[in-house]
Amino acid sequence: MTYDTFLGPLNHVGIAVPDIHKAIEMYRNVFGVTDITEPADLPPQGVTFAFVNLPSGQVELIQPYGDKSPITKFLEKNPKGGQHHICFEVKDIHAASLAMAEKGMRVLNEPRIGAHGTPVVFLHPGDAGGVLIELMETPKEAH
Ligand code: CO
Repeated sequence: MTYDTFLGPLNHVGIAVPDIHKAIEMYRNVFGVTDITEPADLPPQGVTFAFVNLPSGQVELIQPYGDKSPITKFLEKNPKGGQHHICFEVKDIHAASLAMAEKGMRVLNEPRIGAHGTPVVFLHPGDAGGVLIELMETPKEAH
């Protein structure tokens, strides 16, 4: 039996924060990280995001953007912020999305452009061991 490894690299861990500037300051001043992107708005996802770049991958800081942000509720439950999702790369988001649905996972959205400029989908945490999983198509230029 052949076994195709479905998941590519772990791309980032998403951390919801109430104040992205304070969070960036913490990573810069407490942890000494120098490579952190400027916060940018991503209206379709309802978040403002910044990447803390580490040798092994990224921490994605996300703060609510707009009235209907999907992370507002999360922050009501976790006012100081907290780990929100993990993101794995996949080669083809449409194939991955179909494969996940066939295996009984609830795919929460049609592929849409995420913070890295490539399409992403989210999988229901109730089907994934309590973890909100983001699948992201590997950026073409990176490989
Ligand atoms: Co993410």
